[in-house]
Order: sequence, then structure tokens, then C-alpha cells
Amino acid sequence: MSKKLYIKTYGCQMNVYDSQRMVDLLSPLGYEVTETPNDADMAILNTCHIREKAEQKVFSDLGRLRAVKDERIQNGADMMIAVGGCVAQAEGAEIIKQAPYVSMVFGPQAYHKLPEMIAKTTREYDVKSGKRTGIGIVNTDFPTESKFDLLPQPTTSTVSSFLSVQEGCDNFCTFCVVPYTRGAEYSRPVVDILKDARHLVSLGTREITLLGQNVNAYHGVSPTSNDVEWGLGRFIYELAEIDGLERIRYTTSHPMDMDDLLIKAHGDVGKLMPFLHLPVQSGSNAILQSMNRRHTSDQYIKVVERLRIARPDLAMSSDFIVGFPGETVADHKATLGLVREIGYAQAYSFKYSIRPGTPAGAMDLQVTEEVKSERLAELQTLLNEQQLQFNQTKIGLVQRVLVDRIGKREGQLSGKTPFMQSIYFDGNQRLSGEMVDVMVEKAFANSVTGSVVTVD
Ligand code: SAH
Ligand code: SF4
Ligand code: F3S
Repeated sequence: MSKKLYIKTYGCQMNVYDSQRMVDLLSPLGYEVTETPNDADMAILNTCHIREKAEQKVFSDLGRLRAVKDERIQNGADMMIAVGGCVAQAEGAEIIKQAPYVSMVFGPQAYHKLPEMIAKTTREYDVKSGKRTGIGIVNTDFPTESKFDLLPQPTTSTVSSFLSVQEGCDNFCTFCVVPYTRGAEYSRPVVDILKDARHLVSLGTREITLLGQNVNAYHGVSPTSNDVEWGLGRFIYELAEIDGLERIRYTTSHPMDMDDLLIKAHGDVGKLMPFLHLPVQSGSNAILQSMNRRHTSDQYIKVVERLRIARPDLAMSSDFIVGFPGETVADHKATLGLVREIGYAQAYSFKYSIRPGTPAGAMDLQVTEEVKSERLAELQTLLNEQQLQFNQTKIGLVQRVLVDRIGKREGQLSGKTPFMQSIYFDGNQRLSGEMVDVMVEKAFANSVTGSVVTVD
């Protein structure tokens, strides 16, 4: 009998990828995805721990799920509630203790055990007393075996797909929880990810985004010798040989891991798209040092210069944190200065959020909420201006678009330009999933619009 699975994903693309793998894992057990928890036999929250807000959201969503579960029990049904991802890893047994209606808690390196965990847990829980009467399971192991070897091959794919090639992080930036929630850096062997990439393309994928918390630190065992490792650059040259694959992207990168071959690949490999998310976090050397980013503002600028020599039209993106402990007005100005110097096509910016257990959380000179808000607003105004300016530079130019969505309006399609801009235009629905040439006509802060020029 078919059962319904509700899965909500928070956080980064890695979690999006993991959620999709959970769906693949549970589909042989008869679970079909549903968009609402109301008719779900199982609900999974795949959580993010990166900032306090992300974490709080999980706990308020859990409260709502509890109400749905209670109602389902009263109607003679039930819903198993599971918490996966980075909050699960960080809080572990505490969640299941505080929320007895949760049957299962599992970390990002344990989700391949889902079928086993489902078989073991008994979801009994007494609505009246709010007490667990069955077995709750907590699995926050970092197993020595690779979970990737134990995951089933996907049976469906989208035109644009994620592929995890690297996981975890050894950088320990002082503000960040990822090294604790995802564990040590691990690179999958080249043979395995090439096989996955070919499989995705055989299912209809035309664009692959290689994923890793620190993806350009990738160093996978080569296909020919166990003693040789390939970096991300070498791998991208090989990946580009797959017929039918038209676009390659990768995210997220660390400035200090942009090596010569990867930079060269940006010039040589036509399928590698001219858009790079390369987070810098701050433009102040003092703050960069205190963040343990291992580079100065000038070194970052030099890396971007080298990339732009290899690929002159490269569009840049970044992440920024404002209000890191000890950040002065001068430090903040240095960040604004760096932004002006680079010129970003897109960027994400956040107020620094104290994370328990990280070195920065215990630093003196925490910045007040008010100052953080002011600085964030100032930075975002500048970044939004730059984004609009970048989008305007494409007006009157024809862009190759991978159509990945039907637009909100009737007859409207949407896709991505090579520069990762969202583009909207009118066209036949059968163009969905195709590559189309579109003339850009108007530019906005977050998207561009245009009309179709030719169809392949
Ligand atoms: N691995 C990636 C990013 C991981 S987290 C990298 O190294 O760039 C994504 C972004 O969240 C980070 O780039 C950073 O800008 C932001 N972030 C991480 N920890 C944060 C914190 N404690 N407060 C605010 N923003 C944070
Ligand atoms: Fe976090 Fe830094 Fe690792 Fe990125 S590089 S995941 S910010 S520790
Ligand atoms: Fe969040 Fe974990 Fe990703 S903390 S950003 S879901 S690695």
C-alpha cells in the first residue's frame, strides 16, 4: 500500500541533495512524496544549524507537526516524525527528549540507515499525556563506511541536478558549525561520481552542479591509480566529456582552494558556466584573520583577477557576514570597499549569529543587534545596486537559457542564463527542459525578462 512522505528541507543545496536521496531510499518502501503534512504517514524535517534563526524555525515547525500528528491519531491514523540534518546532528538526543512525539533523530552522515531505523522504531506516543510509549531512535554517527556506497541510484532526475562530490569541512572558520555537523572533509572517488553523473545525464539531466561544503578542496581517488588524486579542475575536464551534459557548475568554494588547474578550467572548458560563488565573508584583514579564513582581502582580489583573466566575462557571487565580533566601522567600510572593487552579480549577506560551541561565539566585543542591522542594510543596498547593474549589462544581448520551470503566469517560462540570472519569457510549455536563445529586454534586481530568438 502506498504511504505518504512529507519532507521539508532547510539550509544549503547539500540538504536539498540529501532530501532527494531520502526520497530515493524510501520509495522502495512504498513512500510517495506529498506536499502537505496533513496526509503524511511520515514527516521528515531536514534541518539547518547555520544561524540561530534557521534552528528556531525547526522548533516552531515541530510544534505544528505535533498538532497534525495528534489530529491524525485521533482520526485513527498516525504520522511518524523524524528530524534529520544539521540540527539533528548538533542537538541529538536532546530533541527526542524534549519532543517525545519525534520518533527519530538522525545526522547528515546517517540517513542511509533510514529504512533500518524505520523498522526499529515504534512510534507509539500517548496524545493525552504527551509521553512517548514506544522506542525513539537517535543516530548521529559519523560512520567509517561511505554512505554514498549504500544509497540507491536515483530513478528520476531534473534538467538541472545536484551531485555531491565532497562533504564536510576541515577549515574551522571560527563562526561556523559545519565542521561539527558534517564532520571531516571527505572526497568521493572519481569513478563513483562519474558514474553518478552519467546516470543523471541518461535520465535527462543537462546541467550538473557539483556540490560540497568546500567543493574546490575536492581530492578524489583517480580512476587509474589508488595512489593518485584528482582535484576539482581535473575532474571538470573529464566531466565535460559526457555527451548530453551541457552545463557544469560547482558550489561552494573557498578562496584558498582555487588552484591553477581549476582556474585554467574556467578558460578552457566551455561547459563550465561563467558564474562563480566564492564567499569572502569580510573585506577587513583583521576580521578575516579572526574568522580564520586563511587569506587577506588582497589575496582574494588576486584570485578573482586570475579567474577573470582565464574567463573575462566571469560573474562573481559571494557570502558576507556583518557584525562579526570586534568588527569596527573601519572594518565594515573595508567590506564595502572590497564589494566595490570586485563588482558582484549576486550575493548573500547575513548578520553574524552566535553559534554555541564555535570559537567566535565566545569572543569579546560582540556587536549589537542594532549595529548589525544598520550594517546589513548598507551592504545590501550596495549589493542590490550591483546586481541590478550587472543585469542591465545583458540588455540587448542574446542569452542561452536552460528552461527549468514553467513560469507563474500562463504561457510564461523561466530558466537560468549562463550567469545564473533568473530569466522570464513567453514560450510554449514543450520548451521546458530545453536550451533556448533569449534576447534580454528588461533588467530588474533579481531577474531579467526577454523573448525567444531561436529554438533548437
Ligand atoms: N562552505 C561555505 C559556506 C557554508 S555556510 C563556505 O565556506 O563558504 C554558508 C554561509 O553562511 C557562509 O558563507 C557564511 O556567510 C554564513 N554563515 C555561516 N556561519 C554563520 C554565522 N554563525 N552567522 C552568520 N552567517 C553565517
Ligand atoms: Fe564553514 Fe568555513 Fe568550512 Fe565554509 S569553509 S563550511 S564557512 S568552516
Ligand atoms: Fe545548514 Fe548544515 Fe548546510 S548547517 S548550511 S544544512 S551544511
